[in-house]
Amino acid sequence: MSELDAVRSVLRRQRAHRSFTDQPVPEDVITDILELATRAPSAQNCQPWDFVVVQDPDRRAAIWELASRLWDMGAKDATDGAVPDTMRDDVEHGVRRGFAGAPVSIVVCANAERWDLNLMDSSIWPATQNLMTAATAHGLGSALTTIGTILVDELRAILKLPATLTPLAVIPIGHPPKPLGSSRREPVSEHTHREEFGNGW
Ligand SMILES: Cc1cc2nc3c(=O)[nH]c(=O)nc-3n(C[C@H](O)[C@H](O)[C@H](O)COP(=O)(O)O)c2cc1C
Repeated sequence: MSELDAVRSVLRRQRAHRSFTDQPVPEDVITDILELATRAPSAQNCQPWDFVVVQDPDRRAAIWELASRLWDMGAKDATDGAVPDTMRDDVEHGVRRGFAGAPVSIVVCANAERWDLNLMDSSIWPATQNLMTAATAHGLGSALTTIGTILVDELRAILKLPATLTPLAVIPIGHPPKPLGSSRREPVSEHTHREEFGNGW
């Protein structure tokens, strides 16, 4: 397979996984995924990311309990009707059980000593996407979730985070029970304009 075909295949298979087997993820694979995550761009190459790798089952359960609680506190109501019922049920499964079942959860944190917290998003999400892409290339499933970061003080306490670190995403990683197949997206032509808005592509 050409390099381009390999990249296409990985990017098309990069999906939100919400179920995982308990097959462990070797430490060298986790390290490789993190190393590839840090190949991402960041403003002034400030590299404002810190990753907390959570493998301990009790700690994993504690961080995902926050997401489950947030689901009951309003996220479920906000999701009902906004997405197809099958997706709502899948998200609920992830939040209630699936994410905690992944053998690894990586908490992506923004380091305010490295970059202005108000400008942080654009320097954190590229690394987060790289992380998930690398996981996919390793044959693993992952999901970008933010629901578990909203009860931020409790998450900070579980992870013993200093005040300078703000958790922005919690990413479960593990082996999927079955392949999800390609993502479904609207055609590029529906989102693209030639030279100026309104001209078709
Ligand atoms: C900022 C952000 C937050 C997300 N939060 C959650 C989440 O809390 N729970 C969840 O199950 N999926 C979450 N997702 C995953 C999206 O639901 C998913 O990427 C989207 O539905 C596309 O689905 P696909 O990856 O299967 O193609 C999040 C995605 C983004 C970009």
